[in-house]
Amino acid sequence: MKKTSLLKEIIQSQSLEFLMEAHNGLSAKIVEEAGFKGIWASGLSISASMGVRDNNEASWTQVLDVLEFMSDATSIPILLDGDTGYGNFNNARRLVKKLEQRQIAGVCIEDKLFPKTNSFINGSAQPLADIEEFSGKIKAMKDAQQDDDFSVIARVEAFITGWGLEEALRRSEAYRKAGADAILMHSKRSDITEIEAFLKEWNGRLPVVIVPTKYYAVPTQRFQELGVSVAIWANHNLRASLGAMQSISKQIFEEQSLKQAESKVATVDEIFRLQGAEELQEAELKYLPSDPEQGGHSS
Ligand code: SPV
Ligand code: MG
Repeated sequence: MKKTSLLKEIIQSQSLEFLMEAHNGLSAKIVEEAGFKGIWASGLSISASMGVRDNNEASWTQVLDVLEFMSDATSIPILLDGDTGYGNFNNARRLVKKLEQRQIAGVCIEDKLFPKTNSFINGSAQPLADIEEFSGKIKAMKDAQQDDDFSVIARVEAFITGWGLEEALRRSEAYRKAGADAILMHSKRSDITEIEAFLKEWNGRLPVVIVPTKYYAVPTQRFQELGVSVAIWANHNLRASLGAMQSISKQIFEEQSLKQAESKVATVDEIFRLQGAEELQEAELKYLPSDPEQGGHSS
């Protein structure tokens, strides 16, 4: 099955599904091995792993390069966090074209302005996109896709920016009419009240995706009961790796020795396994001359 069809299935499934964050080829592979059906290519995590801010400081083609590695390393679908689409409708539809060429299964765009700021940094001060302009962007993206199963998800930042339920519903309905395949409703509250109120009024008009980073303590069962389609665990590989790297760097710096550190880190063999080193060894036997002295002629 195509990656696009797999993502579509995840989004449309009646039961609650999950996407796990990855930010490079290696973390994408780890997400697949853990058993996840799909990957969230997080803007926050990709930018952070590049050492820059989540403000479109990395160019969209630099993000595309990362995605290409992620896609090549895995067989499960990837949903890109496409921020605001990196410009207007024209930039966003070109993005869709380039994503499809790399077998990225879908993209989510948020109704803010380029360059964006992460939703958890002073969210209330962030201006929203004009509804009509953003709807046109979604339309252009849907018109641009060659594969019918490619997904465009509209992320509504009404709650993040301090608007209420009415604005969240108004925007979601406009984006639905523009052709969005799902709505990602974001909230920075530590409880689920905003999401719950939205889901009740929305009444299943399109699948709803959530990012429970801030309401992490809400039981997952509750998402299912409310009819959430997909929950995104949005940044947890990056956050796990930060602690691990900070602690090992500090330890080795202080001890000036690897002796105590060795048991705390992955083996190099594990890295080779994840990189698929074995396949290359087999391929070398098959494709390289058996006697290098022969100058390339093996028989
Ligand atoms: C991301 O993972 O980059 C997201 C989710 O967009 S959030 O950081 O919650 O905005
Ligand atoms: Mg983001």
